[in-house]
Amino acid sequence: MTRPESHTPSAGPAYQSGFGNEFASESRPGALPVGRNSPQRAPFGLYAELLSGTAFTAPRAHNLRTWMYRKRPSAAHGPLVRISDGRWQSGPFTDCDTPANRLRWSPWPLPEEGADFFQSIISVAGNGDVHAQSGVAVHVYGANRSMTDSYFANSDGEMLLVPQSGRLQLHTELGLLELSPGEIALVPRGMRLSVTLPDGQARGYLCENYGSPFRLPELGPLGSNGLANARDFLAPVAAVKDNAGPVRLINKFMGHLWQGEQPHSPLDVVAWHGNLVPYKYDLARFMAVGSVSFDHPDPSIYTVLTSGTDTPGVANCDFVIFPPRWLVAEDTFRPPWFHRNVMSEIMGLVRGVYDGKAEGFVPGGMSLHNCMLAHGPDAATFERASQADLVPHRLQDTLAFMFESRHVFRPTAQALQASNLQANYDAAWQGFKPGGEGV
Ligand SMILES: [Fe+2]
Repeated sequence: MTRPESHTPSAGPAYQSGFGNEFASESRPGALPVGRNSPQRAPFGLYAELLSGTAFTAPRAHNLRTWMYRKRPSAAHGPLVRISDGRWQSGPFTDCDTPANRLRWSPWPLPEEGADFFQSIISVAGNGDVHAQSGVAVHVYGANRSMTDSYFANSDGEMLLVPQSGRLQLHTELGLLELSPGEIALVPRGMRLSVTLPDGQARGYLCENYGSPFRLPELGPLGSNGLANARDFLAPVAAVKDNAGPVRLINKFMGHLWQGEQPHSPLDVVAWHGNLVPYKYDLARFMAVGSVSFDHPDPSIYTVLTSGTDTPGVANCDFVIFPPRWLVAEDTFRPPWFHRNVMSEIMGLVRGVYDGKAEGFVPGGMSLHNCMLAHGPDAATFERASQADLVPHRLQDTLAFMFESRHVFRPTAQALQASNLQANYDAAWQGFKPGGEGV
C-alpha cells in the first residue's frame, strides 16, 4: 500500500486552522476588546487599527478585514523615498514585444552577492496593471540573506509564495508562518512582514496578485468536500516582536519600491481578530480528483485557489497543482493532451518530473504557454504514453503547478534576455511520426 506523502504535522509555531474564518488571537489575555472593535480606550492602552482587504461594501461572502491591537499605530513612520526596484517589474508589462512562442527557462542561479527575499525578486512575466488592480505578475526568488532590520509591505497586490528549495519564516504583523517546499503561503495586500531563511538560502516562485484575493474554488457537483479543504489552511497566532528600532520600512507602491524609517518594529500587534490573514497550506493535503473511467479531465480539477474577475468562471488567476496521484483511466492517453487554450499558462516545478514532458522542465524552472499557442506532450512522452500498458500507475515524488490567467502573460525583457531561457524549446514538438497512414 502506498501512502500519500508528508501528512504528518511537523513541530513548529502554533497555528489556527480554517479558510476565511473569523479568527481571533491574543498574545496577552484581555488584549482583545469585547463587544466592539474600537473602544474609547483599547485594553492596555493599545491602538486599534483596521486593515481592509476588500472594499468596505463588498458582499459579505467576499469581505475581508482584520482589526489589530498594537503598541503603536502603523502610521508612525517618516516619509518614504524611491529606491531601486532591482529586477522587480510591474504591470503593465510593456518593455518589449510579447513573443508568439512557447517559452521555457532553466532555473535561475542564486545571486552571487547577498540578497534577502525581496531584494532577490526577478520578474519573469505578468499581465494586467497595478493601477487598475487587475492581473498578476510571476516572479522567482533566490535569497541567501535573512531580513534583520527591514520590513516589507506590498500595496500592489497579495503575494502567493511557492517555495522550491529552502524553508522560509514569514514574520508577519499577525504572527509567524514557517514554510517548507511543498507548502504555499499567502500574504495579504499591505500586510507588513520580514522573511528569514533558516536554511541560509531559499529559492522559489512568487505570484503577485493585483486582482481580487485568492479564495477557494466552488466545488459544484463534487459536493461539500475535496480539493483543498478549508480546515487544512493555517493562519498564525498573535506574536509580538517588539524589536527596538529604528527599522527600514519598504513599501511597493504603484510598481516601485519606496523606503522609509520607522522608530519601531511593525510587528508590535498584541492581539487581532478578523478574516484577512496570512496563511499557509501543505499541498500534500490536496485531495486530487481524476477520471476513474476514461479520458483526461480539464486541469481545472486541480485548482487550489482562484482569483476571480467580474466574469463568472473566468479567472484573473487560478493556482493549480499536479500532485502525486494515481492514473487509472482505461483506453486513454493519460498525460495532458495537445491543446490551445484561451487562458494563458505559466508552469513551475517544485520537485520530480512532470508527466507531460520527458526532459527539460526541471525543478526551479518555468514554462510559458500563452493564449492559443499550441502545446502538449513532447514526442518522447507521446510515444511512451501511446504504447503504455494501462495498468493503475502512481505518479510519485512530483509536484508541478500552474498560474493560469485570462490575461496574456507578457514576459519581461530581462527574462527574454536571460541566459537560462532555453533556445530550443520548440524541439520538444519535433519528431512526431505522421499519423493517418493510408487515409
Ligand atoms: Fe497547457
